[in-house]
Amino acid sequence: MSDDDTFVGDDDSEFFTVLQGRRRNVLNDRYMLPADEDEIRRYSYHHRILQFIFGGRNYVGPVKEVLTYPGVKHKRRVLDVGTGGGLWAIEMADEFPRVEVTGVDLAPIQPREVPPNCSFELCDLDHPSLPYTTLNYDVIHARSMHTGIGNYQQFVKELTRMLRPGGILILIEPDSQPVVDGHLLGIPPHDPCSTVTSTLGKRPHTSYASGAPGWFALWEAYRTCLQRKGIDVNVPSHLGAIIRQTGAYDHIRVQEATIPIGFWPKDVTLLTIGQLAWMEYDHLLPAMRPMLLEAGIPEWKVKVLIEDAHRDMYEPVMPPSVRMHVVHAIKK
Ligand SMILES: C[S@@+](CC[C@H](N)C(=O)[O-])C[C@H]1O[C@@H](n2cnc3c(N)ncnc32)[C@H](O)[C@@H]1O
Repeated sequence: MSDDDTFVGDDDSEFFTVLQGRRRNVLNDRYMLPADEDEIRRYSYHHRILQFIFGGRNYVGPVKEVLTYPGVKHKRRVLDVGTGGGLWAIEMADEFPRVEVTGVDLAPIQPREVPPNCSFELCDLDHPSLPYTTLNYDVIHARSMHTGIGNYQQFVKELTRMLRPGGILILIEPDSQPVVDGHLLGIPPHDPCSTVTSTLGKRPHTSYASGAPGWFALWEAYRTCLQRKGIDVNVPSHLGAIIRQTGAYDHIRVQEATIPIGFWPKDVTLLTIGQLAWMEYDHLLPAMRPMLLEAGIPEWKVKVLIEDAHRDMYEPVMPPSVRMHVVHAIKK
């Protein structure tokens, strides 16, 4: 793709199409979620949730040290892959005004007014080799975008090639598997009344029928659609292993956060996160509609799937949450 193909002027309509009533990108067929105002709003909730989890910061690990360490001659650069609405890139550019921050995405959904050290580019990163310079970046950040990457292992290899020695790779991905009451519901029951055993806890944990059947059914359908598109839905829980396989890092830290969805936490900070997550998922459930329809699920069934999941979220018998996997690693 040449620069001419990706230069975005005032009229950006050539970079979008419409799928089942929602605007989406034209560069990649695998990534099926929309690229419209509702999605941008959802990304802003997502961004704030992660900030809360990181204690008000935008990163984990020694990012500040790497980006401000004195006596370094080269221009320091940060790359945010799958930047979405670009909030993370913009805030990083504000925090580190001497650092060049680039955000990359499939669709030009980022603000046009940005700090002078921040820019956005269009690129489909779902390719075996990426058009980015080797050993060029000090920090590479990839958050919540594995559902647009067919070969995540190869993707991480490419990010590793682009990272300088001593640079930091940050990968953050949420599970696409429902959790209720803090436990993963890992077994898709064929009999809707069967007992589901938590994959984390040892005890038979909850009854599918009495727990969150609508919530569970939608996520199962979503995961099936992703798998049909060639997405490995287990990537989030394997981020640490994927980084380790490259053999290029000597410090790998794997962390997990369980994010409440809804108004049920008693702790004030968790309640705030739960409210933000509730707003995010309130947008995410209908955003799955085009993908489910394109997979051939009849319209009436898609409607029921989304409505039932919404009901389980609005009137939870068992409080839903989502597990977020956070990994950072320093390149040798
Ligand atoms: C769920 S959003 C996350 C946005 C942002 N990283 C955040 O955490 O707030 C996923 C973003 O990744 C982008 N994306 C997915 N697959 C991609 C690919 N193959 N190449 C470039 N961007 C991709 C999507 O267009 C979307 O904007």
